[in-house]
Amino acid sequence: MNILHTATSPFTDQKPGTSGLRKKVRVFQTSHYLENYVQAIFNVATDLNGGMLILGGDGRYYNVQAIQTIIKMAVANGVRHIKLGQAGLFSTPAVSHLIRKYRAAGGLILSASHNPGGPEGDFGIKFNTANGGPADTQFTDQVYAESLRIAAYRLAEMEDVPLEAPAHFQYGETLIEVIDPVSDYAELMEHIFDFKKIKALFSSGLFTLCFDAMHAVTGPYATEIFQRRLGASTGSVINALPQEDFAGGHPDPNLIYAKELVAHLNGSSKAPNLGAASDGDGDRYMLLGRNFFVNPSDCLAVMTANAHLLSGYKQGLNGVARSLPTSRAVDKVAETLGIDCYETPTGWKYFGNLLDDRRITLCGEESFGTGSDHIREKDGIWAVLFWLNLVAIKRQSVEEITRAHWARFGRHYYSRHDYEGLDSDLAEQLMENLRARTETLKGQEYAGHVITDCDDFSYTDPVDHSITEHQGIRILFEDESRIVFRLSGTGTEGATLRVYLERYENDPALHNIETQVALADMINIARELAELQTRCGREQPDIVT
Ligand code: G1P
Ligand code: ZN
Repeated sequence: MNILHTATSPFTDQKPGTSGLRKKVRVFQTSHYLENYVQAIFNVATDLNGGMLILGGDGRYYNVQAIQTIIKMAVANGVRHIKLGQAGLFSTPAVSHLIRKYRAAGGLILSASHNPGGPEGDFGIKFNTANGGPADTQFTDQVYAESLRIAAYRLAEMEDVPLEAPAHFQYGETLIEVIDPVSDYAELMEHIFDFKKIKALFSSGLFTLCFDAMHAVTGPYATEIFQRRLGASTGSVINALPQEDFAGGHPDPNLIYAKELVAHLNGSSKAPNLGAASDGDGDRYMLLGRNFFVNPSDCLAVMTANAHLLSGYKQGLNGVARSLPTSRAVDKVAETLGIDCYETPTGWKYFGNLLDDRRITLCGEESFGTGSDHIREKDGIWAVLFWLNLVAIKRQSVEEITRAHWARFGRHYYSRHDYEGLDSDLAEQLMENLRARTETLKGQEYAGHVITDCDDFSYTDPVDHSITEHQGIRILFEDESRIVFRLSGTGTEGATLRVYLERYENDPALHNIETQVALADMINIARELAELQTRCGREQPDIVT
Protein backbone atom coordinates (compact mmCIF):
# COMPACT_ATOMS: atom_id res chain seq x y z
CA MET A 1 0.00 0.00 0.00
CA ASN A 2 1.25 3.43 -0.90
CA ILE A 3 1.95 5.81 2.01
CA LEU A 4 1.81 9.49 1.21
CA HIS A 5 3.99 11.94 3.12
CA THR A 6 2.34 15.31 2.92
CA ALA A 7 4.30 18.44 3.81
CA THR A 8 2.55 20.75 6.24
CA SER A 9 3.26 23.68 8.51
CA PRO A 10 2.22 24.05 12.15
CA PHE A 11 -0.89 25.74 13.54
CA THR A 12 -0.23 27.61 16.74
CA ASP A 13 -3.59 26.96 18.41
CA GLN A 14 -3.59 23.18 18.89
CA LYS A 15 -3.21 23.24 22.67
CA PRO A 16 -5.62 20.73 24.20
CA GLY A 17 -7.95 22.09 26.92
CA THR A 18 -9.75 20.42 29.84
CA SER A 19 -10.86 17.64 27.54
CA GLY A 20 -8.85 17.29 24.33
CA LEU A 21 -8.74 19.70 21.42
CA ARG A 22 -12.05 21.43 20.84
CA LYS A 23 -12.67 23.95 18.05
CA LYS A 24 -15.34 25.11 15.68
CA VAL A 25 -16.06 22.60 12.89
CA ARG A 26 -14.84 25.10 10.33
CA VAL A 27 -11.45 25.30 12.09
CA PHE A 28 -11.11 21.51 11.90
CA GLN A 29 -12.06 21.75 8.22
CA THR A 30 -9.10 24.01 7.45
CA SER A 31 -6.76 22.00 5.26
CA HIS A 32 -4.19 19.99 7.22
CA TYR A 33 -5.67 21.08 10.58
CA LEU A 34 -7.08 17.69 11.61
CA GLU A 35 -4.16 15.81 10.03
CA ASN A 36 -1.54 17.90 11.84
CA TYR A 37 -3.09 17.28 15.24
CA VAL A 38 -3.63 13.57 14.67
CA GLN A 39 -0.06 13.15 13.41
CA ALA A 40 1.17 14.97 16.52
CA ILE A 41 -0.70 12.36 18.60
CA PHE A 42 0.82 9.47 16.62
CA ASN A 43 4.28 11.02 17.07
CA VAL A 44 3.84 11.06 20.85
CA ALA A 45 1.82 7.86 21.37
CA THR A 46 4.45 5.61 19.86
CA ASP A 47 2.79 2.46 21.27
CA LEU A 48 0.11 2.83 18.62
CA ASN A 49 2.70 1.73 16.09
CA GLY A 50 2.19 -2.04 16.13
CA GLY A 51 -0.74 -1.75 18.56
CA MET A 52 -4.53 -1.45 18.63
CA LEU A 53 -6.54 1.77 18.29
CA ILE A 54 -10.21 2.23 19.25
CA LEU A 55 -11.86 4.88 17.09
CA GLY A 56 -15.30 6.46 17.12
CA GLY A 57 -17.29 9.51 18.03
CA ASP A 58 -20.60 10.94 19.17
CA GLY A 59 -22.09 11.17 15.68
CA ARG A 60 -21.84 14.91 15.33
CA TYR A 61 -21.24 16.69 12.03
CA TYR A 62 -17.78 15.87 10.60
CA ASN A 63 -17.51 12.66 12.66
CA VAL A 64 -17.50 10.29 9.72
CA GLN A 65 -15.22 12.44 7.52
CA ALA A 66 -12.70 12.75 10.35
CA ILE A 67 -12.86 8.99 11.01
CA GLN A 68 -12.03 8.19 7.38
CA THR A 69 -9.00 10.50 7.49
CA ILE A 70 -7.83 9.10 10.84
CA ILE A 71 -8.15 5.49 9.58
CA LYS A 72 -5.81 6.31 6.68
CA MET A 73 -3.37 8.02 9.02
CA ALA A 74 -3.52 5.14 11.50
CA VAL A 75 -2.73 2.64 8.76
CA ALA A 76 0.17 4.83 7.58
CA ASN A 77 1.48 5.15 11.13
CA GLY A 78 1.70 1.41 11.70
CA VAL A 79 -1.43 0.71 13.77
CA ARG A 80 -2.05 -3.04 13.42
CA HIS A 81 -5.65 -3.28 14.54
CA ILE A 82 -8.37 -0.62 14.47
CA LYS A 83 -11.73 -1.19 16.15
CA LEU A 84 -14.35 1.16 14.79
CA GLY A 85 -17.88 1.71 15.98
CA GLN A 86 -20.60 0.94 13.46
CA ALA A 87 -21.71 4.19 11.77
CA GLY A 88 -18.70 5.80 13.42
CA LEU A 89 -20.37 5.78 16.83
CA PHE A 90 -18.85 5.11 20.21
CA SER A 91 -19.70 6.76 23.49
CA THR A 92 -16.77 8.00 25.55
CA PRO A 93 -17.40 5.41 28.32
CA ALA A 94 -17.57 2.65 25.70
CA VAL A 95 -14.18 3.66 24.28
CA SER A 96 -12.66 3.65 27.75
CA HIS A 97 -14.04 0.17 28.33
CA LEU A 98 -12.91 -1.19 24.94
CA ILE A 99 -9.36 0.08 25.44
CA ARG A 100 -9.18 -1.76 28.76
CA LYS A 101 -10.95 -4.91 27.61
CA TYR A 102 -8.91 -5.42 24.44
CA ARG A 103 -5.65 -3.95 25.79
CA ALA A 104 -5.54 -1.33 23.10
CA ALA A 105 -2.68 1.17 23.02
CA GLY A 106 -5.22 3.98 23.01
CA GLY A 107 -8.42 5.43 21.67
CA LEU A 108 -9.49 8.49 19.74
CA ILE A 109 -12.90 9.91 20.60
CA LEU A 110 -14.36 12.46 18.24
CA SER A 111 -16.61 14.69 20.27
CA ALA A 112 -17.07 18.15 21.67
CA SER A 113 -19.14 16.62 24.48
CA HIS A 114 -22.09 18.89 25.32
CA ASN A 115 -21.22 21.66 22.84
CA PRO A 116 -23.66 22.08 19.92
CA GLY A 117 -22.92 20.32 16.63
CA GLY A 118 -23.60 20.94 12.95
CA PRO A 119 -21.53 22.84 10.37
CA GLU A 120 -21.57 25.96 12.56
CA GLY A 121 -21.06 24.00 15.78
CA ASP A 122 -18.10 22.48 17.53
CA PHE A 123 -15.91 19.45 16.95
CA GLY A 124 -13.24 17.87 19.09
CA ILE A 125 -10.70 15.08 19.48
CA LYS A 126 -9.76 13.39 22.72
CA PHE A 127 -7.03 10.83 23.07
CA ASN A 128 -7.29 8.18 25.78
CA THR A 129 -4.28 6.15 26.80
CA ALA A 130 -3.84 2.45 27.53
CA ASN A 131 -5.48 2.66 30.98
CA GLY A 132 -8.66 3.83 29.24
CA GLY A 133 -8.51 7.35 30.64
CA PRO A 134 -7.92 10.78 29.11
CA ALA A 135 -4.25 11.43 28.35
CA ASP A 136 -2.55 13.29 31.18
CA THR A 137 -1.18 16.81 31.01
CA GLN A 138 2.35 15.64 30.35
CA PHE A 139 1.10 13.79 27.27
CA THR A 140 -1.08 16.62 26.00
CA ASP A 141 1.77 19.10 26.52
CA GLN A 142 3.97 16.88 24.36
CA VAL A 143 1.29 16.70 21.68
CA TYR A 144 1.03 20.47 21.71
CA ALA A 145 4.81 20.83 21.42
CA GLU A 146 4.79 18.35 18.55
CA SER A 147 1.99 20.29 16.81
CA LEU A 148 4.20 23.39 16.89
CA ARG A 149 7.02 21.75 14.98
CA ILE A 150 5.18 19.38 12.67
CA ALA A 151 6.44 19.36 9.08
CA ALA A 152 4.68 16.36 7.51
CA TYR A 153 1.97 13.80 8.09
CA ARG A 154 1.44 10.27 6.81
CA LEU A 155 -1.62 9.01 5.02
CA ALA A 156 -2.28 5.62 3.41
CA GLU A 157 -3.66 5.72 -0.11
CA MET A 158 -6.83 3.67 0.28
CA GLU A 159 -10.59 3.77 -0.18
CA ASP A 160 -12.96 4.89 2.55
CA VAL A 161 -13.90 2.05 4.89
CA PRO A 162 -17.63 1.12 4.86
CA LEU A 163 -18.94 1.79 8.38
CA GLU A 164 -22.57 0.77 7.92
CA ALA A 165 -22.38 -2.77 9.26
CA PRO A 166 -20.11 -4.93 11.42
CA ALA A 167 -17.33 -6.34 9.23
CA HIS A 168 -13.60 -7.07 8.99
CA PHE A 169 -11.17 -5.67 6.45
CA GLN A 170 -7.47 -6.17 5.99
CA TYR A 171 -5.52 -3.24 4.59
CA GLY A 172 -1.85 -4.10 4.24
CA GLU A 173 -0.78 -5.11 7.72
CA THR A 174 -3.74 -3.48 9.42
CA LEU A 175 -6.90 -5.30 10.49
CA ILE A 176 -9.90 -2.99 10.54
CA GLU A 177 -12.93 -4.18 12.44
CA VAL A 178 -16.28 -2.42 12.45
CA ILE A 179 -18.14 -3.52 15.59
CA ASP A 180 -21.49 -3.00 17.27
CA PRO A 181 -20.75 -0.05 19.58
CA VAL A 182 -23.11 -1.23 22.32
CA SER A 183 -22.62 -4.92 23.07
CA ASP A 184 -19.30 -4.91 24.98
CA TYR A 185 -20.46 -1.99 27.08
CA ALA A 186 -23.88 -3.51 27.81
CA GLU A 187 -22.17 -6.70 28.92
CA LEU A 188 -20.02 -4.73 31.38
CA MET A 189 -23.13 -3.07 32.83
CA GLU A 190 -24.79 -6.48 33.28
CA HIS A 191 -21.73 -7.57 35.17
CA ILE A 192 -21.77 -4.58 37.57
CA PHE A 193 -25.49 -4.18 38.28
CA ASP A 194 -28.28 -6.49 39.34
CA PHE A 195 -30.27 -6.57 36.10
CA LYS A 196 -32.69 -9.10 37.54
CA LYS A 197 -33.70 -6.75 40.30
CA ILE A 198 -34.05 -3.78 37.96
CA LYS A 199 -36.09 -5.91 35.56
CA ALA A 200 -38.41 -6.83 38.42
CA LEU A 201 -38.81 -3.14 39.21
CA PHE A 202 -39.93 -2.40 35.65
CA SER A 203 -42.20 -5.41 35.45
CA SER A 204 -43.90 -4.49 38.74
CA GLY A 205 -45.86 -1.90 36.79
CA LEU A 206 -45.18 0.59 39.57
CA PHE A 207 -42.17 2.21 38.03
CA THR A 208 -41.47 4.06 34.79
CA LEU A 209 -38.40 5.69 33.29
CA CYS A 210 -37.83 8.49 30.82
CA PHE A 211 -34.34 8.71 29.36
CA ASP A 212 -33.58 11.60 27.01
CA ALA A 213 -30.69 10.76 24.70
CA MET A 214 -30.87 14.29 23.25
CA HIS A 215 -30.28 12.96 19.71
CA ALA A 216 -26.73 12.12 20.69
CA VAL A 217 -24.70 8.95 21.08
CA THR A 218 -26.50 7.29 24.02
CA GLY A 219 -29.66 6.59 22.00
CA PRO A 220 -28.57 3.11 20.85
CA TYR A 221 -27.01 2.31 24.25
CA ALA A 222 -30.09 3.36 26.24
CA THR A 223 -32.50 1.58 23.91
CA GLU A 224 -30.58 -1.68 24.14
CA ILE A 225 -29.95 -1.55 27.88
CA PHE A 226 -33.09 0.04 29.35
CA GLN A 227 -35.71 -1.15 26.88
CA ARG A 228 -34.38 -4.41 25.45
CA ARG A 229 -32.40 -5.87 28.33
CA LEU A 230 -34.23 -4.39 31.33
CA GLY A 231 -37.75 -4.32 30.00
CA ALA A 232 -38.52 -0.61 30.31
CA SER A 233 -41.49 0.06 28.05
CA THR A 234 -41.00 1.13 24.45
CA GLY A 235 -40.82 4.90 24.36
CA SER A 236 -38.95 5.12 27.67
CA VAL A 237 -35.98 6.38 25.68
CA ILE A 238 -36.77 9.62 23.88
CA ASN A 239 -34.77 11.46 21.17
CA ALA A 240 -32.98 8.16 20.65
CA LEU A 241 -31.76 8.68 17.11
CA PRO A 242 -28.25 10.21 16.93
CA GLN A 243 -28.20 13.19 14.58
CA GLU A 244 -25.33 15.25 13.22
CA ASP A 245 -26.64 18.48 14.71
CA PHE A 246 -28.47 16.91 17.67
CA ALA A 247 -31.68 18.06 15.95
CA GLY A 248 -30.58 21.64 16.46
CA GLY A 249 -30.38 21.14 20.21
CA HIS A 250 -27.70 21.57 22.79
CA PRO A 251 -26.78 18.08 24.06
CA ASP A 252 -26.14 19.31 27.58
CA PRO A 253 -28.12 17.41 30.20
CA ASN A 254 -29.18 20.14 32.57
CA LEU A 255 -32.44 21.78 33.56
CA ILE A 256 -32.15 24.36 30.82
CA TYR A 257 -31.31 22.25 27.78
CA ALA A 258 -33.12 19.02 28.66
CA LYS A 259 -36.44 20.88 28.59
CA GLU A 260 -38.48 18.04 27.09
CA LEU A 261 -37.39 15.65 29.83
CA VAL A 262 -38.06 18.19 32.56
CA ALA A 263 -41.57 18.72 31.19
CA HIS A 264 -42.20 14.95 31.26
CA LEU A 265 -41.09 14.66 34.87
CA ASN A 266 -42.92 17.63 36.25
CA GLY A 267 -46.59 17.93 36.86
CA SER A 268 -48.88 14.99 36.58
CA SER A 269 -49.09 12.02 38.90
CA LYS A 270 -48.51 9.87 35.82
CA ALA A 271 -45.07 11.39 35.27
CA PRO A 272 -42.21 8.86 35.09
CA ASN A 273 -40.65 7.93 38.42
CA LEU A 274 -37.13 8.51 37.25
CA GLY A 275 -35.82 10.77 34.51
CA ALA A 276 -32.37 11.10 33.07
CA ALA A 277 -30.64 12.77 30.15
CA SER A 278 -27.22 12.33 28.69
CA ASP A 279 -24.81 14.54 26.77
CA GLY A 280 -23.27 14.33 23.28
CA ASP A 281 -20.74 11.59 24.02
CA GLY A 282 -22.56 9.84 26.86
CA ASP A 283 -20.28 10.56 29.78
CA ARG A 284 -22.53 13.06 31.55
CA TYR A 285 -26.03 12.68 32.89
CA MET A 286 -28.72 14.54 34.75
CA LEU A 287 -30.92 12.73 37.21
CA LEU A 288 -34.49 13.63 38.09
CA GLY A 289 -37.14 12.17 40.30
CA ARG A 290 -40.79 13.04 39.77
CA ASN A 291 -40.84 16.82 40.25
CA PHE A 292 -37.42 16.59 41.81
CA PHE A 293 -33.90 17.45 40.71
CA VAL A 294 -30.83 15.85 42.29
CA ASN A 295 -27.74 17.92 41.70
CA PRO A 296 -24.67 16.00 40.53
CA SER A 297 -22.71 16.70 43.71
CA ASP A 298 -25.53 15.18 45.73
CA CYS A 299 -25.68 12.24 43.31
CA LEU A 300 -22.07 11.42 44.14
CA ALA A 301 -22.74 11.74 47.86
CA VAL A 302 -25.86 9.53 47.74
CA MET A 303 -24.00 6.92 45.71
CA THR A 304 -21.11 6.93 48.15
CA ALA A 305 -23.41 6.48 51.12
CA ASN A 306 -25.31 3.61 49.50
CA ALA A 307 -22.78 1.80 47.32
CA HIS A 308 -22.35 -1.08 49.77
CA LEU A 309 -26.00 -2.05 49.14
CA LEU A 310 -25.28 -2.85 45.48
CA SER A 311 -23.76 -6.22 44.69
CA GLY A 312 -21.13 -4.64 42.40
CA TYR A 313 -19.80 -2.48 45.24
CA LYS A 314 -20.62 -4.62 48.27
CA GLN A 315 -16.96 -4.93 49.21
CA GLY A 316 -17.02 -1.22 50.11
CA LEU A 317 -15.23 1.76 48.64
CA ASN A 318 -11.48 2.37 48.63
CA GLY A 319 -12.06 6.08 48.77
CA VAL A 320 -13.73 8.82 46.77
CA ALA A 321 -12.71 11.95 44.88
CA ARG A 322 -14.40 15.07 43.63
CA SER A 323 -13.18 17.98 41.55
CA LEU A 324 -12.53 21.23 43.34
CA PRO A 325 -15.77 22.98 42.35
CA THR A 326 -17.97 19.98 43.19
CA SER A 327 -19.87 20.51 46.44
CA ARG A 328 -18.50 19.02 49.58
CA ALA A 329 -21.54 16.79 50.16
CA VAL A 330 -19.44 13.70 49.46
CA ASP A 331 -16.81 14.84 51.99
CA LYS A 332 -19.38 14.49 54.78
CA VAL A 333 -20.16 10.91 53.72
CA ALA A 334 -16.49 9.97 53.40
CA GLU A 335 -15.86 11.31 56.88
CA THR A 336 -18.65 9.15 58.32
CA LEU A 337 -17.51 6.07 56.39
CA GLY A 338 -13.89 6.68 57.40
CA ILE A 339 -12.61 6.63 53.82
CA ASP A 340 -10.32 9.06 52.02
CA CYS A 341 -11.80 11.90 50.01
CA TYR A 342 -9.58 13.65 47.44
CA GLU A 343 -10.10 17.11 45.98
CA THR A 344 -8.71 17.35 42.44
CA PRO A 345 -8.56 19.98 39.69
CA THR A 346 -11.41 20.13 37.17
CA GLY A 347 -11.27 17.43 34.49
CA TRP A 348 -11.59 13.67 34.59
CA LYS A 349 -7.92 13.07 33.86
CA TYR A 350 -7.02 13.92 37.45
CA PHE A 351 -8.95 10.91 38.74
CA GLY A 352 -6.93 8.47 36.63
CA ASN A 353 -3.98 7.97 38.95
CA LEU A 354 -6.23 7.70 42.00
CA LEU A 355 -8.29 4.99 40.29
CA ASP A 356 -5.26 3.12 38.91
CA ASP A 357 -3.62 3.21 42.33
CA ARG A 358 -6.83 1.87 43.91
CA ARG A 359 -7.13 4.85 46.21
CA ILE A 360 -10.67 5.58 45.10
CA THR A 361 -13.68 3.65 43.79
CA LEU A 362 -16.14 6.48 43.01
CA CYS A 363 -15.54 9.99 41.76
CA GLY A 364 -17.47 12.87 40.32
CA GLU A 365 -17.77 16.41 39.12
CA GLU A 366 -20.49 19.00 39.58
CA SER A 367 -20.77 19.25 35.80
CA PHE A 368 -23.06 16.22 35.65
CA GLY A 369 -20.35 13.56 35.68
CA THR A 370 -20.01 10.58 38.00
CA GLY A 371 -18.03 7.40 37.56
CA SER A 372 -16.29 4.49 39.20
CA ASP A 373 -13.29 2.26 38.78
CA HIS A 374 -15.09 0.15 36.13
CA ILE A 375 -13.58 2.42 33.45
CA ARG A 376 -11.51 5.61 33.40
CA GLU A 377 -14.19 8.07 32.29
CA LYS A 378 -17.34 9.45 33.78
CA ASP A 379 -20.29 7.40 32.68
CA GLY A 380 -23.87 8.59 32.24
CA ILE A 381 -25.61 5.26 31.59
CA TRP A 382 -23.70 3.63 34.44
CA ALA A 383 -24.90 6.39 36.78
CA VAL A 384 -28.52 5.93 35.75
CA LEU A 385 -28.19 2.17 36.26
CA PHE A 386 -26.71 2.82 39.70
CA TRP A 387 -29.81 4.82 40.64
CA LEU A 388 -32.16 2.25 39.11
CA ASN A 389 -30.43 -0.49 41.06
CA LEU A 390 -30.68 1.58 44.25
CA VAL A 391 -34.37 2.31 43.73
CA ALA A 392 -34.94 -1.39 43.01
CA ILE A 393 -33.30 -2.30 46.32
CA LYS A 394 -34.84 0.39 48.49
CA ARG A 395 -38.20 0.59 46.76
CA GLN A 396 -38.16 4.30 47.57
CA SER A 397 -38.47 7.21 45.21
CA VAL A 398 -35.51 9.33 44.09
CA GLU A 399 -36.84 12.13 46.27
CA GLU A 400 -37.23 9.92 49.34
CA ILE A 401 -33.72 8.57 48.96
CA THR A 402 -32.25 12.06 48.58
CA ARG A 403 -34.22 13.61 51.43
CA ALA A 404 -33.22 10.80 53.78
CA HIS A 405 -29.63 11.45 52.76
CA TRP A 406 -29.90 15.17 53.62
CA ALA A 407 -31.52 14.35 56.95
CA ARG A 408 -28.56 12.16 57.81
CA PHE A 409 -25.64 14.17 56.42
CA GLY A 410 -27.01 17.69 56.05
CA ARG A 411 -27.80 19.44 52.78
CA HIS A 412 -25.33 21.32 50.59
CA TYR A 413 -27.25 23.91 48.62
CA TYR A 414 -25.31 24.29 45.43
CA SER A 415 -25.36 26.19 42.17
CA ARG A 416 -23.07 27.15 39.30
CA HIS A 417 -23.37 30.50 37.57
CA ASP A 418 -21.73 30.83 34.17
CA TYR A 419 -20.84 34.10 32.51
CA GLU A 420 -20.21 33.25 28.87
CA GLY A 421 -18.52 35.01 25.97
CA LEU A 422 -16.46 37.36 28.14
CA ASP A 423 -13.55 39.20 26.66
CA SER A 424 -10.61 36.88 27.40
CA ASP A 425 -8.30 39.65 28.64
CA LEU A 426 -10.94 41.11 30.97
CA ALA A 427 -11.71 37.66 32.34
CA GLU A 428 -8.01 37.00 32.97
CA GLN A 429 -7.71 40.34 34.75
CA LEU A 430 -10.72 39.52 36.90
CA MET A 431 -9.09 36.25 37.96
CA GLU A 432 -5.75 37.97 38.50
CA ASN A 433 -7.38 40.52 40.76
CA LEU A 434 -8.91 37.76 42.90
CA ARG A 435 -5.61 35.90 42.96
CA ALA A 436 -3.80 38.99 44.21
CA ARG A 437 -6.30 39.36 47.05
CA THR A 438 -6.30 35.80 48.42
CA GLU A 439 -4.18 36.73 51.46
CA THR A 440 -5.99 39.94 52.37
CA LEU A 441 -9.46 38.37 52.14
CA LYS A 442 -8.80 36.00 55.01
CA GLY A 443 -10.60 37.08 58.19
CA GLN A 444 -12.84 39.56 56.38
CA GLU A 445 -16.58 39.52 56.86
CA TYR A 446 -19.19 39.82 54.11
CA ALA A 447 -22.91 39.98 54.92
CA GLY A 448 -22.20 38.31 58.25
CA HIS A 449 -20.09 35.49 56.72
CA VAL A 450 -16.45 35.38 57.79
CA ILE A 451 -13.83 34.19 55.31
CA THR A 452 -11.63 31.62 57.00
CA ASP A 453 -9.52 30.60 54.04
CA CYS A 454 -8.83 31.72 50.52
CA ASP A 455 -6.35 30.43 47.96
CA ASP A 456 -5.63 29.68 44.34
CA PHE A 457 -6.06 25.90 44.26
CA SER A 458 -2.95 23.90 43.56
CA TYR A 459 -2.95 20.09 43.39
CA THR A 460 -0.14 17.70 44.07
CA ASP A 461 -0.99 14.29 42.67
CA PRO A 462 -0.37 11.81 45.51
CA VAL A 463 0.67 9.08 43.06
CA ASP A 464 3.08 10.72 40.62
CA HIS A 465 3.65 13.91 42.68
CA SER A 466 3.02 16.14 39.67
CA ILE A 467 1.84 19.63 40.57
CA THR A 468 -1.04 21.43 38.84
CA GLU A 469 -1.42 25.10 39.74
CA HIS A 470 -3.92 27.94 39.30
CA GLN A 471 -6.97 25.70 39.24
CA GLY A 472 -9.44 28.15 40.73
CA ILE A 473 -9.89 30.62 43.56
CA ARG A 474 -11.43 28.96 46.63
CA ILE A 475 -13.08 31.07 49.26
CA LEU A 476 -14.15 29.24 52.40
CA PHE A 477 -16.42 30.70 55.04
CA GLU A 478 -16.69 29.92 58.72
CA ASP A 479 -20.21 28.46 58.32
CA GLU A 480 -18.94 25.96 55.68
CA SER A 481 -20.26 28.07 52.81
CA ARG A 482 -17.93 28.30 49.85
CA ILE A 483 -17.37 30.17 46.60
CA VAL A 484 -15.07 29.01 43.81
CA PHE A 485 -14.12 31.05 40.75
CA ARG A 486 -12.48 29.58 37.67
CA LEU A 487 -12.32 30.05 33.92
CA SER A 488 -13.60 27.30 31.67
CA GLY A 489 -11.04 25.27 29.75
CA THR A 490 -13.43 23.87 27.16
CA GLY A 491 -14.95 26.92 25.48
CA THR A 492 -14.27 27.77 21.85
CA GLU A 493 -15.13 31.49 21.90
CA GLY A 494 -13.98 34.16 24.38
CA ALA A 495 -13.83 33.23 28.03
CA THR A 496 -16.41 31.69 30.34
CA LEU A 497 -16.25 32.52 34.03
CA ARG A 498 -17.73 29.85 36.26
CA VAL A 499 -18.81 30.84 39.76
CA TYR A 500 -19.60 27.91 42.05
CA LEU A 501 -21.73 28.64 45.11
CA GLU A 502 -22.36 26.43 48.10
CA ARG A 503 -24.01 26.60 51.52
CA TYR A 504 -24.20 23.84 54.10
CA GLU A 505 -27.35 23.39 56.14
CA ASN A 506 -27.57 20.79 58.85
CA ASP A 507 -31.08 21.57 60.09
CA PRO A 508 -33.72 19.41 58.29
CA ALA A 509 -36.28 22.15 58.94
CA LEU A 510 -34.25 24.25 56.50
CA HIS A 511 -33.94 21.67 53.71
CA ASN A 512 -36.80 23.02 51.61
CA ILE A 513 -35.55 26.40 50.53
CA GLU A 514 -35.36 27.16 46.81
CA THR A 515 -31.68 26.81 45.88
CA GLN A 516 -31.08 30.33 44.52
CA VAL A 517 -32.83 31.81 47.55
CA ALA A 518 -30.77 29.68 49.92
CA LEU A 519 -27.63 30.89 48.17
CA ALA A 520 -28.60 34.58 47.95
CA ASP A 521 -25.87 35.76 50.31
CA MET A 522 -23.17 33.83 48.48
CA ILE A 523 -24.43 35.08 45.11
CA ASN A 524 -24.16 38.69 46.27
CA ILE A 525 -20.77 38.20 47.87
CA ALA A 526 -19.42 36.54 44.71
CA ARG A 527 -20.61 39.43 42.55
CA GLU A 528 -19.03 41.95 44.87
CA LEU A 529 -15.71 40.11 45.15
CA ALA A 530 -15.33 39.49 41.42
CA GLU A 531 -16.39 43.04 40.51
CA LEU A 532 -18.33 41.51 37.66
CA GLN A 533 -20.36 44.57 36.88
CA THR A 534 -17.50 47.06 36.74
CA ARG A 535 -15.01 44.73 35.05
CA CYS A 536 -17.17 42.86 32.56
CA GLY A 537 -20.42 44.81 32.53
CA ARG A 538 -22.42 41.76 33.53
CA GLU A 539 -25.32 41.88 35.97
CA GLN A 540 -26.69 38.36 35.55
CA PRO A 541 -25.17 35.00 34.65
CA ASP A 542 -26.02 33.48 31.26
CA ILE A 543 -26.56 30.01 32.63
CA VAL A 544 -27.54 28.91 36.12
CA THR A 545 -27.32 25.21 36.91
C1 G1P B 1 -16.13 21.33 31.78
C2 G1P B 1 -16.57 20.90 33.16
C3 G1P B 1 -15.61 19.87 33.71
C4 G1P B 1 -15.48 18.70 32.74
C5 G1P B 1 -15.10 19.22 31.36
C6 G1P B 1 -15.06 18.11 30.32
O1 G1P B 1 -14.85 21.92 31.84
O2 G1P B 1 -16.67 22.00 34.03
O3 G1P B 1 -16.06 19.45 34.97
O4 G1P B 1 -14.51 17.81 33.18
O5 G1P B 1 -16.05 20.20 30.94
O6 G1P B 1 -16.28 17.47 30.17
P1 G1P B 1 -14.61 23.50 31.90
O7 G1P B 1 -15.32 24.11 30.73
O8 G1P B 1 -15.23 23.97 33.19
O9 G1P B 1 -13.12 23.66 31.89
ZN1 ZN C 1 -19.27 14.61 27.54
